[in-house]
Amino acid sequence: MKINDKVAVVTGASGGIGRAVCEELVKRGASHVAMVDLDDGVVAAADRINGEAGREVAKAYQGDTTDSEFRRGVYDEICAAYGQVNICVPAAGIVRDALAVKIDKETGKANLYPEETFRLVTEVNYIAPIYWAMEMIGRMSESRFKRGLGKWGPAQNMEGAIVFIGSVASQGNKGQISYASAKAALEGAASTLMKEAIFHGVRCSIIHPGFTDTPILQAMGEEYVAKHVLPDTQLGRLIKPEEIADAICFMITNQAVSGEIWADAGWHPAAA
Ligand SMILES: NC(=O)c1ccc[n+]([C@@H]2O[C@H](COP(=O)([O-])OP(=O)(O)OC[C@H]3O[C@@H](n4cnc5c(N)ncnc54)[C@H](O)[C@@H]3O)[C@@H](O)[C@H]2O)c1
Repeated sequence: MKINDKVAVVTGASGGIGRAVCEELVKRGASHVAMVDLDDGVVAAADRINGEAGREVAKAYQGDTTDSEFRRGVYDEICAAYGQVNICVPAAGIVRDALAVKIDKETGKANLYPEETFRLVTEVNYIAPIYWAMEMIGRMSESRFKRGLGKWGPAQNMEGAIVFIGSVASQGNKGQISYASAKAALEGAASTLMKEAIFHGVRCSIIHPGFTDTPILQAMGEEYVAKHVLPDTQLGRLIKPEEIADAICFMITNQAVSGEIWADAGWHPAAA
């Protein structure tokens, strides 16, 4: 599937990976890119992309991806203005790291990871990306129905592609019980939607990035990265957001890609 002339929705578009994906989609000729983020920096990010591209290609939508009304509103506006959305990269994500169970050495009581925080991480990292993807598939199915098209077949052009953002943490990572669970669960969603959405001409896949140099990671601090991340990373450096964006564009364009791709710079943490 060509990116040229396609309409894309990217969430987390003010962040490191989401923004890099938007830039790469624009470089590859996307006709319109909806940049969605909670952070108001998304407006400046869209302005910069438009300035560099010399055309009004990016449009910022500031809001919470877990808000269904906001999601439907974004799609309503884009579909009305630019037509069917073909590409969705739901990249918005948060971390709320803590041990699953931690003993309080003063009281001898065990503290469990807070349920409310677990639900928040699940809402943002797991449920919201699935609904942003399903919104695209739903509208694609309606568009195909209107065009008199039934089950998609290989003689037709591919209509769309969705790339979920997993993580190396999906294999389990100390201190990331909620994040790791949400990212592992996304795999089930990606493979189920791959099997269902192809009926409507849409492919789904998931990328598992390793430690990538973005604000979410920078929040861990340089010392933590130097001590706990780089020694277990064969490449000996953090991944650049543009490298993940390039892999995501490969996943969008190469029709043989389904399932998962690991872009982890050879991250293999020690057992202890
Ligand atoms: N950086 C890494 O090392 C790494 C590794 C593996 C996976 N990932 C995943 O990549 C994706 C992008 O992360 P990043 O590294 O670019 O981090 P980032 O913090 O730079 O970007 C995440 C963006 O999501 C936005 N966001 C968070 N909650 C939101 C909400 N409810 N509604 C709308 N926007 C919201 C934030 O404002 C932020 O701009 C995330 O899903 C993350 O889990 C990152």
